[in-house]
Amino acid sequence: MVDLHTHDSDGYSRRGFLKSALASAGLITVSQYEAAAQMLGGTGGRDVQGWGVSPGTVQLSGNENALGPSPRAVDAILDTTYSINRYDLAPDLYGNIARRHGLPVVDVTSQFELPADAWLAVGAGSSDILTAIAHAYFGNGGELVEVSPGFGFMARLANQKGLNVVSVPLADDYGPDLVAMQAAITEKTQLVVVTTPGNPNGRLTPISALKPFVESIPSEVLILVDEAYIDFCRQPGDRIGAAPLIADHPNLIVTRTFSKVFGMAGMRVGYALAQPDVINRINENRANTLSILSGYAAAAALKDHDFVRRSQELVHSGKDYFYSQMDALGVEYVRSESSFVLINLRRDVDTVVDTLAKDHDVWVANAKQRWGMDTFIRVTAGLPEENEAFVEAFKKVLVKS
Ligand SMILES: Cc1ncc(COP(=O)(O)O)c(C=O)c1O
Repeated sequence: MVDLHTHDSDGYSRRGFLKSALASAGLITVSQYEAAAQMLGGTGGRDVQGWGVSPGTVQLSGNENALGPSPRAVDAILDTTYSINRYDLAPDLYGNIARRHGLPVVDVTSQFELPADAWLAVGAGSSDILTAIAHAYFGNGGELVEVSPGFGFMARLANQKGLNVVSVPLADDYGPDLVAMQAAITEKTQLVVVTTPGNPNGRLTPISALKPFVESIPSEVLILVDEAYIDFCRQPGDRIGAAPLIADHPNLIVTRTFSKVFGMAGMRVGYALAQPDVINRINENRANTLSILSGYAAAAALKDHDFVRRSQELVHSGKDYFYSQMDALGVEYVRSESSFVLINLRRDVDTVVDTLAKDHDVWVANAKQRWGMDTFIRVTAGLPEENEAFVEAFKKVLVKS
């Protein structure tokens, strides 16, 4: 009997191969979507490198989605491939994003004729949108307020544009100190950044704390709420985020990305939600950056509730596994609502990170190099086998160093 679940050497399942072969022989029919889902999902997926005692590459440093992309997105890309000669934009993309956040729905069918009353702007990743915000609003001599350690993307752009970056240290629980952030605002402040859940800290700023904070900020100061990881929050209510505040706050911008829960980092799709005046200024400061493939893939991914659920479950169970393993080892960590966990080794991490990479091919983020957190590493929740490979390697490296 053929073992339909065995994996062959190049990492694709024999089951998938067999089905495709039978399909091409006309013996069974597999839809393009089924083929994508089979390649990407469950036991039909690629073999995970990093299994067992001699791991291959285990990439847990970049906050990417270990499940791969949404199969519905792959299906849409394949469907759209023969139309890349067109400047087309997926017709339901803008409308469905607006509906997702309860914002006014404005039909947008071309990137070249963006209506002036849209409540969202879509770009090539949320970084594209963040860059446009900097171009639109940063003026020499102004100030930016952001936590430190924080994602820091806007702080880097602010430095380039001659702004003074006011860094507010995280509170003792590694969450943002909103009182100190509010106190740091002066008449020079142009932008205040709240990343929730945070990166690298992973802490959620609940809407109960965010709402009064937004209300306390003067209306001439722009507030950016970066919600790149919000879909990983355990409580569905927390995943709503700050969008409902936009109607009352013309100075509020919320950003989201398709790079995390939808597994589409390489497709580069992200968006901003704000009142139309702000959206128009953002659009004036960016090019038509969305490829036809990205647009159709994003529109399809939005409907892939099954994939979103699987991504959330993978991250939740991965973090629970890290927590229990670190508890057993007596190693401290920061509980996170993002897709990764900060782990405190209470020693300089350079050697540990290097040894994990060189001796075990396990890649984690060095929080000392990236955020000046000398004793921390940041580990993204991957597939169970990858998480196990990390923990096994981590134990060995801890004993050695
Ligand atoms: C907090 C945060 N915001 C924004 C981004 C940018 O994501 P993208 O440009 O892929 O949408 C990232 C990427 O890791 C992130 O961590």
